[in-house]
Amino acid sequence: MDTLMKQAGKLNPRVLAFLEKRMKNIPSVAKKIEGEYAEIMTELETSVKPYKNKFTTFTQIPAKGRSHAEILGEMEAMRALEESHWKDGFISGAVYHGDQEHIDFLNQVYALNSQSNPLHADVWPSATKFEAEIVAMTANMLSGAGTDVCGTLSSGGTESIMLAMKTYRDWARETKGITKPEMIVPVTAHAAFDKASQYFNIKTIHVPVDENFRADLKAVKKAISRNTIVIVGSAPSFPHGAIDPIAEMSELARQHNIGFHTDACLGGFVLPWAEKLGYNVPAFDFRLAGVTSISVDTHKYGYAAKGTSVILYRNQELRHFQYYTTTEWPGGLYFSPTFAGSRPGALSASCWAALTAMGEEGYLTATKRILETAEKIKQGIREIPELHVLGDPLFVVAFASESINVYKVLDHMSHKKWSLNGLHKPTCVHLCVTLRHTQPGVAERFLTDLREAVEYVKGHPEEKGSMAPVYGMAATIPMRGMVSDLLKKYLDLIFKV
Ligand SMILES: Cc1ncc(COP(=O)(O)O)c(C=O)c1O
Repeated sequence: MDTLMKQAGKLNPRVLAFLEKRMKNIPSVAKKIEGEYAEIMTELETSVKPYKNKFTTFTQIPAKGRSHAEILGEMEAMRALEESHWKDGFISGAVYHGDQEHIDFLNQVYALNSQSNPLHADVWPSATKFEAEIVAMTANMLSGAGTDVCGTLSSGGTESIMLAMKTYRDWARETKGITKPEMIVPVTAHAAFDKASQYFNIKTIHVPVDENFRADLKAVKKAISRNTIVIVGSAPSFPHGAIDPIAEMSELARQHNIGFHTDACLGGFVLPWAEKLGYNVPAFDFRLAGVTSISVDTHKYGYAAKGTSVILYRNQELRHFQYYTTTEWPGGLYFSPTFAGSRPGALSASCWAALTAMGEEGYLTATKRILETAEKIKQGIREIPELHVLGDPLFVVAFASESINVYKVLDHMSHKKWSLNGLHKPTCVHLCVTLRHTQPGVAERFLTDLREAVEYVKGHPEEKGSMAPVYGMAATIPMRGMVSDLLKKYLDLIFKV
């Protein structure tokens, strides 16, 4: 099978896609594939649905309402089962603050604002105040003070990115007549750009990255065409924590009068403070004349609750292409700044509360702790002869190996409770360092477990590991359509009761 896959990998992707489609149309092949999918899903079900026999299951609304105590009791039990995993710092990214006092405070703010909806600005002017000020504070942090920089709040990094891409599509159509839009995106940029490409019919021109995982400038230059609407750079990228050469890329965009989007979803609330702390941070924000938009996530290192992000634009003219308005609907004049209609004002309130409660001082302290912990972790990984750190990251530490299967290391780490991210192209694993890892002893425990995992893998070459073969296969299997089908089946499983 492996040899077949390798040979198939040499075929032209279009030919492969054609063959794959034809194969799936052969009833016996389709039946066999479906059988294999079902087997994989049955195996996955126990890990994805661990509560099946532990808690009451509902497939319809109960005839009589349950008592609040009963509901809260069940939720408490689930929280108890899940909490230590993230709270004790076993997870890459995901929960960026997580101190109990901070959580309690945000919960209190949520409770005070739980009925608020920014769609009704007349009823909840508090919500619009919070949102406008979040945008202003974030713009200010990213060198937008005293300029026309403006923006809106969104529900997360993906929405901010998708809004920006839609904005450039509509801007380019209106101002330049571009009807076949293209965006230039480094292969390491977040999947949300590809999602935007699919949703909004924008062609993605992928550009490779160099040996330090930063976008290849020459390739960017070569990719620019009459249809280019925007160039994208990450500060830093999700996979390897590398900061693209934003200054050079945005200057290219400026010279060609096209947009430049900095994706600072991950780094927007780290890099400004890192720079103030004296770290070497390349320019990535509105100080660069060519940068026309930035996505930056308050729900990551802004330490707000999940569900908010900011999308910033160089000026209001650009922001107008994001807005939706209609004057013909029988429901009246309708307008909304983002994809959603009604939105949770309580999340905006708790975001505003997080920003103002942290203050510059709080962000500086948090950033210092994170960067020092990341340094300790990078150093510890470099001291393990079998591993090496990819590129020169600040706080997202990706590591790989020339001599052992790093996915097996990932597997072994998961037996020790760690949830790290397995990445491919190239094969590596990463840890996104958060405040959870700055707790006493966590970095040391990570390195001890990692050293043990490496030793274990070295000592047991015959063991295949549970997830390691799946990661390995996902990276090399040439039938991308089948991998995609499998992911859809997985999503079906998520929604299975
Ligand atoms: C660089 C980068 N951009 C965008 C996103 C998407 O953010 P979200 O998961 O909030 O949609 C992420 C998420 O990790 C990210 O790391």
